[in-house]
Amino acid sequence: MSKNGCAILTESPFLEALQGRNRGRPPIWLMRQAGRYLPSYRALREKYSFLELCHQPELIAEVTQLPIHQLGFDAAILFADILLILEAFGVKVRFDEGIGPIIDPPIRTEQDIQRLISQPAPQVLSYVAEGIRLLKPQLKVPLIGFCGAPFTVASYLIEGKTSRDLKTTKQMMYTHPGAFHHLLDKLTAASLDYLKMQVEAGVDAIQIFDSWAHVLSPASFREVCFPYLKRLVDGLRLTGVPVILFCKGTGGFFKQLVEIEPQGISVDWGYSLLDVRRGVSGRIALQGNLDPYVLYAPLPTIRRETFRILESMKGDSAYIFNLGHGILPDVSVEAVRTLVDCVKG
Ligand code: CP3
Repeated sequence: MSKNGCAILTESPFLEALQGRNRGRPPIWLMRQAGRYLPSYRALREKYSFLELCHQPELIAEVTQLPIHQLGFDAAILFADILLILEAFGVKVRFDEGIGPIIDPPIRTEQDIQRLISQPAPQVLSYVAEGIRLLKPQLKVPLIGFCGAPFTVASYLIEGKTSRDLKTTKQMMYTHPGAFHHLLDKLTAASLDYLKMQVEAGVDAIQIFDSWAHVLSPASFREVCFPYLKRLVDGLRLTGVPVILFCKGTGGFFKQLVEIEPQGISVDWGYSLLDVRRGVSGRIALQGNLDPYVLYAPLPTIRRETFRILESMKGDSAYIFNLGHGILPDVSVEAVRTLVDCVKG
């Protein structure tokens, strides 16, 4: 038995792949696998708001397991959101129907940053740890904890909502670099505490989402993403829990990601996994990278595109099947089931 009285996970193809020694079929899980495409999730959303689902440990445990029970994924991702970390700074986030996250007022100046409490309090997120503790004894597959990368979380704080091009964020980055780095530094420290709390509560792996990195040049990535991602990965190394980095725009930053030495890199669909593998030793697992829009296609096309990827990574003992980004909310469950059956069969 491991800590928390949970059964030790033996024979998990997902954890084996992260150690570069999976001999069987590739494991599969999908980003946003516990979401609106599932009728059972939508039924819960009739009763609870998104934040109510995130805030109650029993509901976290229930929603996290929906896609495991219904579709048989090889790993579960904790039901939460990358923006919950902002609660540790006393910042309120709203999720408006059909719009997405809203932060009002946004954080745009050094004074705004100073106003964010100087000692963030990750313990306000203890409901997440409680959800993990409830979940672990019930789960038969590994549990992935996560956080947003400091740059991506900062971009939501600065824009105040989802933006097309991160114009205001880039204005701040180039005009007030001191304030911008101050914000990234604070977010990194809080994120590391938050991730360590998740590890302590029992997660088996961590994924860090830098979903907006693709708007950056490689030189800017080196400046505003690389050092903070490295601090998170280095800070978790001693825990022994594997870390996967997901950056939208992987190809442009690939060498920098390898330099950080995470245990896994999640690749978006703009790149051939095989080409990416040529540039990285088998010590680092690769995850990805079906175009999420393929799930709108007829089932034979889904099978064809899935086989194309499986074939290209055949025999790779450090490969994890996933989409190149999150699953879209209006794909059919039948499409997702076809994909899972294809990978598992
Ligand atoms: O299933 C899972 O992957 C676990 C849970 C999870 C959610 N968000 C649930 C969610 C995870 C890992 C995230 C990460 C996340 N959240 C990211 C990084 C990944 C990515 O997709 O790039 C980002 C950028 C966010 C911020 C966020 N949260 C946005 C932009 C939105 C609205 C987008 C939309 O499609 O409406 C959310 C809301 C959100 N997070 C939902 C879910 C299930 C939908 C909420 C609902 O209305 O029920």
